Amino acid sequence: MDPNPTAPAIEVKHLACGYDESVVLQDVSFTVKPRELLFIIGGSGCGKSTLLRCLIGLLQPIRGDVAYFGQSFTGADSAQRREILKTFGVLYQNNALWSSMTLAENVSLPLEIHTSLSRADREEIVTLKLTEVGLAGSEDLYPSELSGGMKKRAALARALALDPAIVFFDEPSEGLDPITSREMDRLILQVRDVLGTTMVIVSHQLSSIFRLADRVLMFDRTAKGIIAEGKPDELAAHSEDSRVRDFLKRDDGPAPQPNPAEGGSKTHSS
Ligand SMILES: Nc1ncnc2c1ncn2[C@@H]1O[C@H](COP(=O)(O)OP(=O)(O)OP(=O)(O)O)[C@@H](O)[C@H]1O
Ligand SMILES: [Mg+2]
Repeated sequence: MDPNPTAPAIEVKHLACGYDESVVLQDVSFTVKPRELLFIIGGSGCGKSTLLRCLIGLLQPIRGDVAYFGQSFTGADSAQRREILKTFGVLYQNNALWSSMTLAENVSLPLEIHTSLSRADREEIVTLKLTEVGLAGSEDLYPSELSGGMKKRAALARALALDPAIVFFDEPSEGLDPITSREMDRLILQVRDVLGTTMVIVSHQLSSIFRLADRVLMFDRTAKGIIAEGKPDELAAHSEDSRVRDFLKRDDGPAPQPNPAEGGSKTHSS
């Protein structure tokens, strides 16, 4: 791939997607800037996972185009598609770690599939990636030996194995206690700030949305598309749409204020 560094990291134009006869999303357009932390939010069944599947090529759009760094993904031939696929990391909702493989083997898998690196080089990268997510020394553990937070970290290490420009993350906080969820949020910010990764995150977790999101896109099932876009605190305070205010101000714990001691790293560097 020959990415255009001035192009948006992701550009979605007039996208429609769904299953068989049912259209889940129709005419969705948005862009994501490099290094942006974008949250996809909305009620159950509004099409968040469907959108992610379309973005990562697991589902063919009905109409429209998805481009990465100026290169069409939807219109790419299979060789170009493979090149583009190498530029993303994906964290699935259930982590999708291989239970019969150690952490080192799990993280090494994308390197084995997509590169011709030697075993020694792969091992070095695996150690580096596990260190980046705070799992140094856990190479030989199996997923069943890990806590929920460690599994998410391991899945993140695997998603980062190929130094992706973009990471897609489905529900990073799901099943985590508030402290572990907060640690996961810190790690996500650190990855973005240190590695410059663009992140698209599907989440219901208000605390994470307010703590991390540069911008949110809110989807709605009836509208079959985006009903609001902006910074979460501004939308919560000023949106004229009660669906948006109700979602962002629902009472499942106070939305935390950004904490300057955590680096205040919500700004774009570009
Ligand atoms: N594989 C599938 N085949 C047919 N319909 C599907 C499939 N997956 C999802 N749907 C339907 O598409 C719609 C959107 O589902 P999707 O899973 O994208 O929603 P979501 O926003 O991710 O919801 P949740 O917050 O519950 O994860 C729903 O009506 C769902 O029933
Ligand atoms: Mg979903």
